[in-house]
Amino acid sequence: MAATWLKDAVFYEIYPQSYYDTNGDGIGDFNGIIEKLDYIRSLGCNALWINPCFDSPFKDAGYDVRDYKKVAPRYGSNSDLYRLFGEAHRRGIRVLLDLVPGHTSEEHEWFRQSQKEERNEYSNRYIWTDFWFHGARGMNYIGGESERSGVYILNFFKCQPALNYGFLHPTESWQLPADHPDAIATREAMKDVMRFWLDHGCDGFRVDMADSLVKADDEKKSGTCAIWKNVREMLDAEYPEAVLVSEWCNPPRALRAGFDMDFYLNHGGGGYITLLRDYGSPRNPGPDRSFFRKDAQDRDIRRFLKEYETWYRDTKDLGYISMITCNHDTERPSLTLGADELKLAYAFIFTMPGVPFLYYGDEIGLRYQWLPNKEGGYNRTGSRTPMQWTEGKNLGFSEGCADTLYLPVDPAEDAPTVQAQEADPASLLNTVRAVLALRHAEKDLQADGEYETLCAEPGKPFVYRRGGLVLAVNPSGETMEAPVPAVGGTALFTIGSAKAENGVVTMGPQSFTVLK
Ligand code: NOJ
Repeated sequence: MAATWLKDAVFYEIYPQSYYDTNGDGIGDFNGIIEKLDYIRSLGCNALWINPCFDSPFKDAGYDVRDYKKVAPRYGSNSDLYRLFGEAHRRGIRVLLDLVPGHTSEEHEWFRQSQKEERNEYSNRYIWTDFWFHGARGMNYIGGESERSGVYILNFFKCQPALNYGFLHPTESWQLPADHPDAIATREAMKDVMRFWLDHGCDGFRVDMADSLVKADDEKKSGTCAIWKNVREMLDAEYPEAVLVSEWCNPPRALRAGFDMDFYLNHGGGGYITLLRDYGSPRNPGPDRSFFRKDAQDRDIRRFLKEYETWYRDTKDLGYISMITCNHDTERPSLTLGADELKLAYAFIFTMPGVPFLYYGDEIGLRYQWLPNKEGGYNRTGSRTPMQWTEGKNLGFSEGCADTLYLPVDPAEDAPTVQAQEADPASLLNTVRAVLALRHAEKDLQADGEYETLCAEPGKPFVYRRGGLVLAVNPSGETMEAPVPAVGGTALFTIGSAKAENGVVTMGPQSFTVLK
């Protein structure tokens, strides 16, 4: 069962290079995050996930770790991060770091050692074939760059050699079985990294590509799952409150493997994508069928529910499904949705079971910008731009020169900022605050409150129950009605117009309500 502090947790994801720059070098830093902790608390978020902030050549924005135990100097020092943990905890905010267990940077010392012809402790830390000419069927590999013979396997980009957790059923002489001492040594090295940060005060990890450890794994990922179960045993024994959230998008599997939460991601064909991003390719959008789009084609929440309800029923006693507004790999929802649409989408995401994640900037509708690739971001770069705080220089992100900024701020006249939205009670920012305040006030809206679909028929509002509360949402431009079970009829919170009478809820255009 998941850590108890998750029951009322709401996460805020911070891409550290883009959050707040306090030393004028154009790149966000730990001190910047510390300065904004009160703002984060004011949103109603009580937990952070910070994207990788470790020493790195930044060929994949820090997902290419060069030293797991040292932070990247551009964000500050290890002591600054320890101070961040302390300052966050003082405000009741927990902090997850990003653990990248599947690969390192090609500049990691382990890899440098592994490249050597002479056998050493790290020769098997990565996956190498035994002869350069043999290659590795069905896997991406690199040859021609090392003193040692053989090619090495990649886990993602060219800069990210795969760590060696062995093979489920080795078929070649160079493939270690998963119970080989050298494969186990990789797992233990990763536990050592986890202990290091947990001992310094972090509260757990978001786990990158959590399903990618054992190679030639079976359909069920049984080799990789066995590793996570083993890691969980260590955490339960030594750090029982530590939390793991997986980048897996398969809650039945990830939660059984020992994760507390698993992300519901924007994978094509999955349920989550039908909510906000069902428009095909961002550059060449086709007809938009996203449920929260005001003029959606063939709006149908059942395309989401079909997958979601199966997963929810299967996993509700095991841990949590984490719905996200967006993340650093995903187009900002503001690419296709306006503020009125986003208010409804967030109200829905923040009133669902499990543990929600708000991506920095989504609270003000920070825009997706069309930008060239930066640090391996490619199309993701546009979702990683600086947070916009004020109307001032660089929209309050940095005192540095505009051309030194990690990425440009939104050049538009009406670029959204925290300052402007704080002043407007009906802004997206203040709507986020109101919904999250309600979630914290009503236990039924939190992670464990029971969920049940009450009306999912196209042409009617979508109505769902959380514990003793009934919620309804109508993203369309028309007024719609649906039957609702008898509730006191008191609306705890409403966007737009909503009325519940005689067992019927009447929802005005683009509306949302929570009834008690
Ligand atoms: C998933 C991360 O979210 C992404 O940003 C990164 O590029 C890959 N994993 C590789 O680590």
